[in-house]
Amino acid sequence: MITKVIAKKNNVTWFNGCVRREDREKLHDHKGAVIWFTGLSASGKSTIAHLVEKELHNKGCSTYTLDGDNVRHGLCADLAFSSEDRVENIRRIGEIVKLFVDTGIIVLAAFISPYRKDRRKLRSLFHDGQFLEIYVDCPPEICSRRDQKGLYAKARAGIIKEFTGISAPYEFPENPSLTISSHKQNPKEAVDKVMRLIRQQHIIEEHGFAIKQAGGGVS
Ligand code: ADX
Repeated sequence: MITKVIAKKNNVTWFNGCVRREDREKLHDHKGAVIWFTGLSASGKSTIAHLVEKELHNKGCSTYTLDGDNVRHGLCADLAFSSEDRVENIRRIGEIVKLFVDTGIIVLAAFISPYRKDRRKLRSLFHDGQFLEIYVDCPPEICSRRDQKGLYAKARAGIIKEFTGISAPYEFPENPSLTISSHKQNPKEAVDKVMRLIRQQHIIEEHGFAIKQAGGGVS
């Protein structure tokens, strides 16, 4: 809504191209969608996201993984970890992911994304079935033990400020599409669960070719 108001003020008008998302999806032979992983740092979000991407890629799907540490090297390099910066971080990524989904690819997104309000806004950017929220649940003590970067120790020592789960909040999802307890199940089990969900949502079809066979070309 706000973006529409700003667009009007700036005299910019949305231009619909000749090739639609549905046309691109036919080419890919699957739907465009985002699987959004939220959870504490070192909870396993990126590990699971990359493994799901590998599985999808091996099935011939067009995919891309975006994760917090990588995106903060470029697009969001100007942002730190205050609540305002995190809101802006997730807003920018949401807009990028929206474009990616419009290309018809399957995006795996792994960001702490600690605020419910921001995740709600994210969901509102997408059509039904295009946005799946996966909560990667893991107690901070276990994340801390796994943390190869030593960030939890630095946060406890007060060297890193506003660290999620230690000195900054994490609002767990109340109604995620799926919860993975990464301290109770191994990555393979987690990947299987996510893949099942992707099929249930008909982002990919069990036996393939369903989308390609259904339609004609671009008019
Ligand atoms: S988010 O809160 O804005 O969604 P994002 O997923 O982009 O965070 O980045 C999280 C990564 O940044 C963590 O995995 C960790 O490696 C690193 N990091 C550095 N400082 C912090 C901090 N204060 N809180 C959380 N993560 C941090």
